[in-house]
Amino acid sequence: MTDKTPSTWFVTGASSGIGLAVARAAADRGDNVVALARTTAAIQPLVEQHGSRVLAQAVDVRRPAEVRDAVSNTLEAFGRIDVVVNNAGYGLFGAVEESTDTQARDTFDTNVFGVLHVLRATLPVLRAQRSGHVLQGSSYYGRIAEPGVGLLSATKYAVEGLTDALTPELEPLGIKVTLVEPGPTATAFVSNLDVAESIADYDQTVREVQKAIGDLPPETFNAPDQVAAAVLAVVDAPRPPRRLVTGSFAVKAIREALEDQLAELKEWEATALAVDDVLVAS
Ligand SMILES: NC(=O)c1ccc[n+]([C@@H]2O[C@H](COP(=O)([O-])OP(=O)(O)OC[C@H]3O[C@@H](n4cnc5c(N)ncnc54)[C@H](OP(=O)(O)O)[C@@H]3O)[C@@H](O)[C@H]2O)c1
Repeated sequence: MTDKTPSTWFVTGASSGIGLAVARAAADRGDNVVALARTTAAIQPLVEQHGSRVLAQAVDVRRPAEVRDAVSNTLEAFGRIDVVVNNAGYGLFGAVEESTDTQARDTFDTNVFGVLHVLRATLPVLRAQRSGHVLQGSSYYGRIAEPGVGLLSATKYAVEGLTDALTPELEPLGIKVTLVEPGPTATAFVSNLDVAESIADYDQTVREVQKAIGDLPPETFNAPDQVAAAVLAVVDAPRPPRRLVTGSFAVKAIREALEDQLAELKEWEATALAVDDVLVAS
């Protein structure tokens, strides 16, 4: 418990993993927490421990009316929202061609449209306050992709793209935005994965990656409480980053990908710039 005025957190996907760890860490230090998930049983211990400072809300982020109701209940209970943690999400594993249309659209419904529903419901509050911090749940798979994670990465790249525009839109209004890009984290994420039907032609690529992920040593997976500690550090920072990467696995993978992209840009720069040589008459 600190002396400062408690902040109010609005955390989606708060029944498990990273979201539950962030909700717990914020409540433990004396902040108010609105914890959202479709099933709230796992949030009840926090409510019992912290009483009226923790409000559990049964919300499916795919349903905008439910998200809006949760915002109304937040304002009734606490009068404001200081930190939005747009974290709810799940993964789809399989080759791009293997995933069905329904599987692909379902993932976008939660991971992208769910994020949009939360933004549309909470930003009017933050804009009126001229303050707040939005944490956008991405992933190291929002910066890199490999066989088997095409659709999952597509949802996270979508969140990254809209957030890169959102950040300078909100900055003049006093609202900060940070993308959270965790590396492998020890949560229920893997057991909640949707897995596509396999096509044998992808055994040498997709199934090999699947096996490699399955063979990762347990120490590769960071503790959700450690990710939550990094999230709190960013929220407390006077100049928070646009992107928070967590864990050495993700830092290494993203650094290598950025170096490869820069090297390729350089290698093909002459061809890219040659396009400027002939000006198109208007
Ligand atoms: N674990 C990792 O290795 C990892 C790495 C990078 C990024 N991430 C990202 O971190 C975020 C949290 O994942 P996690 O690892 O903590 O997984 P998790 O333990 O499976 O937690 C996912 C949370 O999202 C909620 N959720 C799922 N669909 C929802 C919906 N339609 N409406 C409302 N809530 C919903 C779940 O609650 P209910 O089922 O009760 O609704 C749960 O609370 C995700 O966006 C994930 O992509 C995870």
